[in-house]
Amino acid sequence: MALLNWNDNLSVRIPSIDEQHKVLINMINSLQDAMSSGDSRAVLGDIFDGLLKYTDQHFTYEEALFAEHGYPETEDHTREHKAFVSKVTDLHKQFTGSSNFMIGVDVMKFLTDWLVNHIQGVDAKYSDHLLSKGVR
Ligand SMILES: [Fe+2]
Ligand SMILES: [Fe+2]
Repeated sequence: MALLNWNDNLSVRIPSIDEQHKVLINMINSLQDAMSSGDSRAVLGDIFDGLLKYTDQHFTYEEALFAEHGYPETEDHTREHKAFVSKVTDLHKQFTGSSNFMIGVDVMKFLTDWLVNHIQGVDAKYSDHLLSKGVR
């Protein structure tokens, strides 16, 4: 599976958020690197933990901006965040709970597809609103 590369199609035109999305992409790439080079479960587990924590921070950042600037589509957007966190938390539980559970191509594909679709779909929708409120 190819690594995910940042490109302008992924930009939401808000620099602070683009930077966070780049970090998420790098973390997913690190997980994939670690998986394909057969790194230990401990290494994979650390990267997975980090991804979960950073995802949570990033969602909190976006949701705080929505609240501060009265974003009308907050509810739908937040629902997508919650569904993703619960799915990744489940995967993480399976990973830590079973020594047989491996992060496979299907998991990597789910993570990369979700992130790209979310950034280009619902994240891109808030750009005009937040930019008009001066968010950078
Ligand atoms: Fe985002
Ligand atoms: Fe989002």
